[in-house]
Amino acid sequence: MNVIIFGANGNLGRCLVSEGILAGCNVTGFVRNRGKWTERTGASLPTERLTIMEGDATNPQQVYDALTDCDAAVIAAGNPKDADRFACIVDTIVTQADRHPRFGGRLWMLSGAALLDIPHTNRNMIGLPGMPPMYQVHQINYDRIRQSKLDWSVLCPGPMVENADNAYMTNLRFSTEESPLTVSESERSLPEPALLGLLAQKTPELIIPYKEAARFIMNHLEHSGPFAGKRVGIALPEGRVGEKAGWNLGQ
Ligand SMILES: NC(=O)c1ccc[n+]([C@@H]2O[C@H](COP(=O)([O-])OP(=O)(O)OC[C@H]3O[C@@H](n4cnc5c(N)ncnc54)[C@H](OP(=O)(O)O)[C@@H]3O)[C@@H](O)[C@H]2O)c1
Repeated sequence: MNVIIFGANGNLGRCLVSEGILAGCNVTGFVRNRGKWTERTGASLPTERLTIMEGDATNPQQVYDALTDCDAAVIAAGNPKDADRFACIVDTIVTQADRHPRFGGRLWMLSGAALLDIPHTNRNMIGLPGMPPMYQVHQINYDRIRQSKLDWSVLCPGPMVENADNAYMTNLRFSTEESPLTVSESERSLPEPALLGLLAQKTPELIIPYKEAARFIMNHLEHSGPFAGKRVGIALPEGRVGEKAGWNLGQ
C-alpha cells in the first residue's frame, strides 16, 4: 500500500508517518520544508519505506505529481486558524485526486468534533451560537469532499495531545456521523446555548493522543470499508477523561 500524508510535519502528520510505516505501508511525507522535517524527526524513523517530498499543498501541479501511484492519501495539512488556506488545501487535493488516473482513490481528511451531529439530532455544532466562526471551514471542507467521486472518510477528533507513554489504548469508543458522546433524551432537547455548554463539559472525554487517531486512519485505508463516505468520531474509553490546556470546543 502506497500512502501519501499531506502535512507530514504537523503534530498529527508525524504520527501518521510513523504509524503508516508500522502498518507496513510505503509512506510519502509531503512537507513544506524538508529541513524542518529533519530537525523535528532526526533519524528516528526507518528510511527504507519512507520518502519525503517537499511542496505546497495549494499548488495543483505539485499535488497532482505527488499523488501519482499512491493508493491512498491523508490530508493532515492546514488548520482552522488559517481557514482560507485550509479550504484551499482541501479543494486542491480533492480536485487533483478526483481527476488523477494513477491515484487509487482512497482519501482521509481531518476535521474537528464539531462537524459530527449532536446525538439523535440531524445537526452538528458548526454555526451554533457560541461556536467560534473559524470552525465553519470544517463544513466547507466536508461539503467539498462530498462532491467528489473519491472513496473518502473524515476523521473528526476532539482536541489531541502527545502521548504520556508509548502504549496504545484499548476500548476507545468510535462513532459514525454523530458524536461518540452520550447525550440523553432530556439533554438533547435543551436550548442551543445550554446544549453547547453541556457538550463543552463532556469534551475532555474526546481528548485523545495524536498517535491513536493516526493508528486508526492507517488501519482503515482499505477501499469501500466500514467508514467509506462517513464522518468518524473517537472518544476515550467510558469513564475516562483527558487533559489539554486551552482546548477548544470546535477542535
Ligand atoms: N491538534 C488538534 O488538537 C486537532 C483537533 C481536531 C482536529 N485537528 C485537525 O487535524 C489536522 C492536523 O492537526 P495538527 O495539530 O497536526 O496541525 P498542525 O500541527 O498545525 O499541522 C498542520 C501541518 O500543515 C502543514 N501545512 C500548512 N499549509 C501547508 C501547505 N500549503 N502545504 C503543505 N503543508 C502545509 C504545516 O506545515 P509546516 O509544518 O511547514 O507549518 C503543518 O505541518 C488539522 O486539519 C486540524 O484541524 C486537530
